[in-house]
Parts: sequence; structure tokens; C-alpha cells
Amino acid sequence: MLLDRLKWRYATKKMDPAKRVPEEKVDRILEAARLAPTSSGLQPFEIIVVKDPAVRAKILEVGYGQSQIVDASHLLVFAAWDNYTAERINEVYDRIAAERGGETEGLKAYRQRLLDGYPGRDPEANHQHAARQAYIAFGLAIAAAAFEEVDATPMEGFDPDGVDAILGLRERGLRSVTLLPLGYRKSGEDWLDGLKKVRRPREALVTTV
Ligand SMILES: Cc1cc2nc3c(=O)[nH]c(=O)nc-3n(C[C@H](O)[C@H](O)[C@H](O)COP(=O)(O)O)c2cc1C
Repeated sequence: MLLDRLKWRYATKKMDPAKRVPEEKVDRILEAARLAPTSSGLQPFEIIVVKDPAVRAKILEVGYGQSQIVDASHLLVFAAWDNYTAERINEVYDRIAAERGGETEGLKAYRQRLLDGYPGRDPEANHQHAARQAYIAFGLAIAAAAFEEVDATPMEGFDPDGVDAILGLRERGLRSVTLLPLGYRKSGEDWLDGLKKVRRPREALVTTV
């Protein structure tokens, strides 16, 4: 059951560098991220799977020395579009039209609304909007990892400009948003392993009107 897996997962502090996550599990975690819903279906982000140990070592330097960055089996980098452009919007809507057998009047009007709205806005506001979409995929990837019984550490604790420079993201119109190391906990060396999961009480979080 999903809730059991969500209770099992925790933000793993110490990964076992000797343990590898099978590629089919990583594929399913990435597929969950690809299936994430996003505003207007734009999927304004990319996920970079960093396997190269030398690149990981560089990211560690801009990741406040968080050891999971190098000890994890796989490191996912969620990077959002730096801006919404007509070209990016059209690519998505051309695909929708092609895969659904043509562009309806409704779809055409909706595409036009996006083209009239997004590209003219402040690029930073557009990037922040795109980053919020990346977080939805990030959340689903975290849940999917738990479902696969793969440990993961959601991470915002890094210098995004540093990661962008290491991976050449700005040149690709992307800006890093979050990291997700995937691997297996090193039991006995992880101070958080086994500690009670603490959450605000449900009544503080949920109200019914
Ligand atoms: C967006 C986000 C950023 C986070 N950044 C870090 C981080 O940089 N390093 C870290 O060890 N944990 C990080 N965490 C983990 C949180 O501290 C952790 O999820 C929270 O305390 C709840 O605990 P749990 O995930 O173990 O249940 C982050 C979590 C989220 C969702």
C-alpha cells in the first residue's frame, strides 16, 4: 500500500556506495516523473541522470558536502526551463495535435492563449512557474522510489548556479531545481535511520469547509 511505503521512506543521510539500484527500478522512477501532471501539459523541465563519478565529485563541492551525492547509486537532477518561449510551447502543442489525430478548434485556441500569455512575461516568473512543475515530478519520483523500496534524499541544499555550470544547463535553457540521489541506506551509519517520522497533526494540515 502506498501509505506503508511513504511511512517507510525517509530522507536518507548515508547511502551505501557498494549497493546499486537495478536499472529497471530507476526506469520506473523516471517514468513516474514523466507521467506527472503539469500546468497545461507543458512538462517544462528535464531530468539529468548523473552516473559519472567525476561529475558527481564536482557536484558534491557545490552540494555542501552532502555525501549522498557521491555515495548514491544514481543521482537525478531536476532542471526547469529557464523561460517559456513560443518554440517550446509550439513543440508541446504540435505533439498533442499529432498524437491525437489533428488540432481541434479548442486546442488551437488554448495554444494561442498560452502563446499570448507566457512568452511575453518576466523570464524569472516563467522559470519559477516551470520550477513548480518540476517539483510535482520530483514528488512523484520520491513516491515512486519508495514504492520500489529504493532509498532517496530529496535535496535543495546545493548551489544551483554551481550545478548549472558543472552540467552546462544554462546553455540548454535549463536551471537546476532539485537533486534526488537514489540508492540504499547504510544501516548503522545513518543517524536518521529508524527515528520516528514526525509530521504536523492532520487537523493542523487539513480543514474541511
Ligand atoms: C524540497 C526538499 C529539499 C530538501 N533538501 C534536503 C537536503 O538538501 N538535504 C537533506 O539531507 N534533506 C533534504 N530534504 C529532506 C527533508 O529535510 C525531509 O524530507 C523532511 O525533514 C521530512 O523527513 P523525511 O523525508 O525523512 O520523512 C529536503 C526535502 C525536500 C522536500
